[in-house]
Amino acid sequence: MQRVLGIETSCDETAAAVVDLEGNVLGETVHSQIELHARIGGIVPELAARDHARNIDAVVRRALDLAEVALDDVDAIAVTARPGLVGALLVGVEFAKGLSLGSGKPLIEVDHLIGHILAIHLRRSGPGASLVHQTPVFPFLSLLVSGGHTGIYRVEGPRAEDIVELGATRDDAAGEAFDKVGKALGLGYPGGPVIDRLAKTGDASRFPFASPMPSKKSAEFSFSGLKTQVMRFLESHGPLSETELADVCASFQKAVVDVLTSKLVAAAEREDVTRIAIGGGVAANRELRERITDLGVKKGLTVILPELASATDNAAMIAYAGALGFSRGECASLDLDPSTETSIAAQTRKGRGQRG
Ligand code: KG4
Ligand code: ZN
Repeated sequence: MQRVLGIETSCDETAAAVVDLEGNVLGETVHSQIELHARIGGIVPELAARDHARNIDAVVRRALDLAEVALDDVDAIAVTARPGLVGALLVGVEFAKGLSLGSGKPLIEVDHLIGHILAIHLRRSGPGASLVHQTPVFPFLSLLVSGGHTGIYRVEGPRAEDIVELGATRDDAAGEAFDKVGKALGLGYPGGPVIDRLAKTGDASRFPFASPMPSKKSAEFSFSGLKTQVMRFLESHGPLSETELADVCASFQKAVVDVLTSKLVAAAEREDVTRIAIGGGVAANRELRERITDLGVKKGLTVILPELASATDNAAMIAYAGALGFSRGECASLDLDPSTETSIAAQTRKGRGQRG
């Protein structure tokens, strides 16, 4: 059985996992820096890098222990090399190089976005195991919604050259919009999970925020206008009652989920693809999971949801993407350099804001 150790330090999670080629998660740990960054209200790159450096050794040992394997028992070492905060990425990349050099195991570089896209293949056993897992067959469309990226991809295979960006955000990522609105509402960092929880009891029709760039003809997104709408509303409205707060969360979340679900389904129809998947931290959102399942089923599509632990940042998705790379004979050299850019070719031009 092939087993790969994966290491992830691209942003604010120090994570390690051992995964096999079938996507079985044999052991994993995620050390979150949320408390560190919550004090400041957002991620401070230098603090992130220093915290990764402090924890990486223990996190990797723990993942190996949980998988009940020694470093000698794994076949390769996979590491996130892009995209992300360079200082944060460097910690994982240099640590992985050291392990590779010391153990003689090949080093495999992984693109974090490809990790998120392929995370639907991961399976965990035990109480956290999900019932929604289905092994996907290529091609499928993936809606990737995280704190740093948002886009729809046509996925023909697991390599960057097999993945076509059909459209991405022109400004903020969906998770970034959740976090900025969460901050404006005084909900701390990250806002996504708290808004998700509060929205459950809220009335989504109370404050009809307009979904930005609703045209189903385009797979591009823009979330910065929606964030501004909510902020203007808050400035003019004054302090919110508990009920109003829940209603704002529900109304904002509905506007985001409306545009994500309708564009993904429209893209599947346009591309003539019958399988749709979601990935990234926002794919943990309860309303997004429910609504994409309902709409997809109504349209006769197969909807593939990641397990919750596979949606938010984790190293199992890196180990799995690395295992596929290893099985293709890939091997990175020791001068591997991290990059802020994804290896998937971009189609959408950033910075043009909302249009159409
Ligand atoms: O994929 P991820 O863990 O890290 C990046 O690669 O960015 O995504 C983090 C993002 C954050 O913006 C966070 O607020 C959002 O995912 N998020 C959620 C939920 N859980 C995490 N957004 C909405 N609802 C959630 N339940
Ligand atoms: Zn991520």
